[in-house]
Amino acid sequence: TRIYVPCDTTALSMGADEVARLIEYHAVAQGVNIELVRNGSRGLFWLEPLVEVETGAGRIGYGPVESDDVEGLVAAGLFDGKSDHSLFLGPVEEIPYLKRQHRLTFGRIGVTDPLSIDDYRAHGGYQGLDKAAAMAPQAIVNEIKASGLRGRGGAAFPTGIKWQTVHDEPWQQQKYIVCNADEGDSGTFADRLAMECDPYMLIEGMTIAGLAVGATHGFIYLRSEYPVAHRVLEEAIRRAEAGGYLGEDVQGSGRAFHLEVRLAAGAYICGEETSLLESLEGKRGLVRAKPPLPAIKGLFGQPTVVNNVLSLAAVPFILAYGGQAYADYGMGKSRGTLPIQLAGNIRRGGLIELAFGVSLQEILEDFGGGTFSGRPMKAVQVGGPLMAYMPETQWDTPMDYEAFAQLGAGIGHGGVVVFDDTVDMGEQARFAMEFCTVESCGKCTPCRIGSVRGVEVIDRIRAGENRDANLVLLEELCETMVDGSLCAMGGMTPFPVQSVMKHFPDDLTA
Ligand code: NAI
Ligand code: SF4
Repeated sequence: TRIYVPCDTTALSMGADEVARLIEYHAVAQGVNIELVRNGSRGLFWLEPLVEVETGAGRIGYGPVESDDVEGLVAAGLFDGKSDHSLFLGPVEEIPYLKRQHRLTFGRIGVTDPLSIDDYRAHGGYQGLDKAAAMAPQAIVNEIKASGLRGRGGAAFPTGIKWQTVHDEPWQQQKYIVCNADEGDSGTFADRLAMECDPYMLIEGMTIAGLAVGATHGFIYLRSEYPVAHRVLEEAIRRAEAGGYLGEDVQGSGRAFHLEVRLAAGAYICGEETSLLESLEGKRGLVRAKPPLPAIKGLFGQPTVVNNVLSLAAVPFILAYGGQAYADYGMGKSRGTLPIQLAGNIRRGGLIELAFGVSLQEILEDFGGGTFSGRPMKAVQVGGPLMAYMPETQWDTPMDYEAFAQLGAGIGHGGVVVFDDTVDMGEQARFAMEFCTVESCGKCTPCRIGSVRGVEVIDRIRAGENRDANLVLLEELCETMVDGSLCAMGGMTPFPVQSVMKHFPDDLTA
């Protein structure tokens, strides 16, 4: 009998190792021959640790399984996939939360053994690279353009155009592929899940990018707070090298691609692409002025593709099935799927990959099942700590870059953080400014000084000092930061503040 117990960070934090150990112990005690596979999480976090048993009727799930449950589960027929237990979930693929998703990128997570190349191949892996290895570089870039893929790190810049810029730089130069895996937005974990549960997908995406633009070397700039992802990636790279998927001659293409992981410096600003490049070069993570764009002068002054994990992870599907197959999903100029990460005060948190166009309301209610506390929802922050708080009147907005931008909100990296009615939105506005005081790289005045003044002004407003004058001052300060900051850190910090002033003014002055 094959039993699956996930081994990614989320499942581990919920006690998956102990559950796995106890399952093995009881199997031995009962003389049952089991094969224990440590898969990744399917992203249904409220069910973790989610134990699955392979049966003739597919994989049967039980969850959330605590170590105290294992003995009872075994007694109730776990090894045969029996239904006599309150944690029985039935066929995992039929759970509506999972079944209703469009898993183009995350189709393999939770299904396969993350480190098995055979398993990866058996589930469609490396088909994209097989094709790309036989294609002209421009044809690969064209496929990405046809997919309509836009940067999933947050800025939504068309990936194909970015690749084209690097492709068009002279080929005798050293070029680089840099993966931004410094996932720093509040409530986000999709990069981590992709790396821990399906690492070859990222490796394959980066290799294809290398073939497309003529880069022979790639770096994954990985958040240092992700030790499991680090271990998994290092081992996956080692195995990919041994299997001929990385190295001097990638899959007999005659072209080289080498890959290394670098641990990040632990600062939010190092997720900004130019600061990231400085850090990769061994310097302090100070933001560089753009232009020149990294695509022209990036790592060590060379043409560089800097893409988020999720952008690169979408590439294998696009090459395997064609750009059009990806573009068939979505709405307007937001093509394909978005890995949404549902977090905060929500009953069913987790990863939801859906075609663009689904409304925020559907995500919050149909998938999320309302708040964890059971109290009414008050505000939702989509896209990280630098994005607007959205009140209920905006929850019918479709997930679409343009629709969100029209409201002064943003989709960012797809994190959705939910707050119930006990939240003090004035405190959240203050937090935005305070976050910036801590995380600012310090290079420009509007951000470095402005955020400190922002905290002070909000404190005065909340204390009732010269309230009207200070509200005007806060508005002007926000405008100055938006218009005058060098990068998105200072330039976007005012967005959550302004959204509180607009939609929750009473909280600010309460
Ligand atoms: P940006 O708009 O300056 O640039 C977007 C990307 O397009 C960059 O990689 C830039 O180099 C590239 N680009 C622009 N024109 C180009 C051209 N002609 N050819 C080739 N490449 C070109 O945005 P930025 O400052 O890089 O990112 C800001 C975003 O980052 C925000 O919207 C925010 O959502 C997101 N963010 C994400 C975080 C995360 O943890 N994933 C954390 C914080 C912010
Ligand atoms: Fe640095 Fe802030 Fe200026 Fe960005 S806006 S360059 S983080 S000081």
